[in-house]
Amino acid sequence: MKGEVSPLPRGRCMEKRMLPGSLTIRKMDPQDLEEVVSLSATSPSNPWSKQMFIEEMQHPNASCYVMTSGEPSTASPLGFLCFRNVGDESDLLNIGVHPESRGCGIGKKLMTFYVEECRQRGAKTLYLEVDPRNQPAVRLYLSQAYRKNGVRKNFYQGKFDALLMMRTI
Ligand SMILES: CC(C)(COP(=O)(O)OP(=O)(O)OC[C@H]1O[C@@H](n2cnc3c(N)ncnc32)[C@H](O)[C@@H]1OP(=O)(O)O)[C@@H](O)C(=O)NCCC(=O)NCCS
Repeated sequence: MKGEVSPLPRGRCMEKRMLPGSLTIRKMDPQDLEEVVSLSATSPSNPWSKQMFIEEMQHPNASCYVMTSGEPSTASPLGFLCFRNVGDESDLLNIGVHPESRGCGIGKKLMTFYVEECRQRGAKTLYLEVDPRNQPAVRLYLSQAYRKNGVRKNFYQGKFDALLMMRTI
């Protein structure tokens, strides 16, 4: 049908049965970095190096969190997110879910956590940039009330445009 978008192949959600009610979100710490960097390497347009995560973890306006299942202090991350808040604005810098856990609702849970965290910190306008070719991410953000708000030219690798999205809370 005209205008209809065909569904993309969904994540396999291989760990679905391992996703208990006890999912935990906690601050990222240095011992998470190895897993988080390898997880981020699967991001189509925004893979971060270890150094980039270290800089965010040390930046005064930035916050990085991981989601784990199981015992919080030992379990390895299923997903992560990093954002910066300044005044009443927030910028979501990066979010990722382990490839084998995609399609299980973890991205949505991380976004719910992020929005609530922003609300508590007094943020009113939330921004992000996304590669428009990254349809799982674009759809995740649309499902979270983000709307398209412009284009940043040559944002990725100096040649691919980013879609700027925003929402208010
Ligand atoms: C984008 C990403 C974080 C989504 O995480 P996820 O845990 O798989 O997402 P969820 O299972 O919570 O799905 C939430 C929504 O996202 C969208 N979505 C997720 N995967 C999708 C897919 N393969 N195709 C289309 N839409 C998809 C849907 O709107 C979905 O809602 P629905 O299940 O009610 O339809 C994950 O795919 C990922 O880590 N990608 C690589 C890193 C990345 O691209 N990060 C974004 C940088 S800007």
